[in-house]
Amino acid sequence: MEAESAAMNLPQRLLRWAHHLPLHSLPFPLSLILSSIGRRILWKALARHTPEASFFPPPSLQRSCWGLRFRSPLFNAAGMFKNAEGYSLAYHQGAGAYLVGTTTSLPRRGLSRYGVRQPFASYPHSQAALNALGLPNPGHRVVAHRIAQFPRYPDFPIGASVAYDPELAPEEALPRLLEGIHLYVAAGVDFLELNESCPNVPHEPGWHALEFRLTWLAERFLARRQRRVPVAVKISVDTPVELMPPLLELLVHLGYDGLTIGNTSTAYETLQTMIVTPERQAYSLFWQRIGGGISGTPLAERRRQLVRIATQWLARRSPQQEFHILAVGGIVTPNELVSALADGASLAQWYTGYIHAFLQHGDAVYRWMYTALEAVP
Ligand SMILES: Cc1cc2nc3c(=O)[nH]c(=O)nc-3n(C[C@H](O)[C@H](O)[C@H](O)COP(=O)(O)O)c2cc1C
Repeated sequence: MEAESAAMNLPQRLLRWAHHLPLHSLPFPLSLILSSIGRRILWKALARHTPEASFFPPPSLQRSCWGLRFRSPLFNAAGMFKNAEGYSLAYHQGAGAYLVGTTTSLPRRGLSRYGVRQPFASYPHSQAALNALGLPNPGHRVVAHRIAQFPRYPDFPIGASVAYDPELAPEEALPRLLEGIHLYVAAGVDFLELNESCPNVPHEPGWHALEFRLTWLAERFLARRQRRVPVAVKISVDTPVELMPPLLELLVHLGYDGLTIGNTSTAYETLQTMIVTPERQAYSLFWQRIGGGISGTPLAERRRQLVRIATQWLARRSPQQEFHILAVGGIVTPNELVSALADGASLAQWYTGYIHAFLQHGDAVYRWMYTALEAVP
C-alpha cells in the first residue's frame, strides 16, 4: 500500500486522501466548505502536474470529424479547464482533443452560497457530483490570448466552449458572444461548443428565445466564416425527448455542425435512486439548499436515450453538411465509452468519470478508458 501511494502523483494522492475523508458524515456546511475548497485545490494541483511519461493513443483510435483529425475519440468536457490550464496534461495523458471553457465575455467569479465560493460536492460511491459553480471564468479575451500561445500538437484539436453572458440583455450579450468567438478563431481554435445549457445561471427560457439566439449567431458567424470552424451546440440531458426533432431540424437548417448531449441535470428527485444510500442525505441537502447540476453515472441512461434519438433522426434525414453527435454524461468506464460510440456519437467527453478514473489509474486514465475500445474492430 505504501509503495502504491509512493508511486502516485500529487493530485492523485490528494484525491485518494479526500476519498477517505468521511465528508458526508460531517455537518452539511462543513462538508460543503471542505469539498468546494478541496475541488479548487485539486484543480490547481492537476493544472501544475506533468505526467512522467506520455501516452500516445494507437492510430486505430483516430477519428475524423469536420476535416479535423482527433487522435482518439475521448476528451475533457467543458468546465474542466476554464482558464486554459491542463493543455499539456491532456495531451500527455492521451486525450483526443482539448476543450477550454466555458467562457463568457465578462469575467465571472461564480456563485457563493453560505459564504462558500463555487459550491461543489462529490459522491464517489455513486460516481456522481453536484456543482453550482455558476460559470466562473476569466472571460473570452484572456483565455483566447492564452490559447494563442499554446504549442500545437498533431491530431490534437483545440476546442473552446463559449456562452453568452446570462445576466446581460440579448442585444448586448449576443454581440459580445460573437466577439468572443472571433477572438477564439483568431487564436487558432479548431472547433467551438456553444453552451446553451448551464443549470447554474439564468437562461431566457423557451423555444423561441433559443431559436432567436441560434439564428442570430448562425447568420453572423456560420454563414460568414472564412475558415470552417465547426460549432456544436451543447444541450442538457434534461432536454425533453419531443424537442429533439425540431431542435435537430433547426440546427441542420441553420448550418450548425454538431450537438453535444449533454450538460448536467436538475432532475434531482428522479435521479436520487442512482445515489447510494450512505450518500443520499448529503445529496438531498445540497440540491434542496443550493440547487446545482448533477453529473456522472446518474446521467448515463438519459444521455444514451437522447444520443440514440439524435443519431436515428440524422440517419433518416441524412443532412447535406457533416453533422456530429458528441456524447457526454456518465461516461465513467471503458464499456460506457464503447456504448456511447456504438449509439452513434462520433466523439465523447467526460468530467466526473475522469476524476474517478484518475483516482484509480493516475496518468493512465485515457490508456485505461481505451482498453475496451481497442478490442472493438
Ligand atoms: C464542476 C463542473 C463544472 C462544469 N462546468 C461546465 C462548464 O463550464 N460548461 C459546460 O458546458 N459544462 C460544464 N460542466 C458539465 C460537464 O461538461 C458535463 O456536461 C457534465 O458534467 C456531464 O458529464 P460527466 O457525467 O462526465 O461529468 C461542468 C461539470 C462539472 C462537474
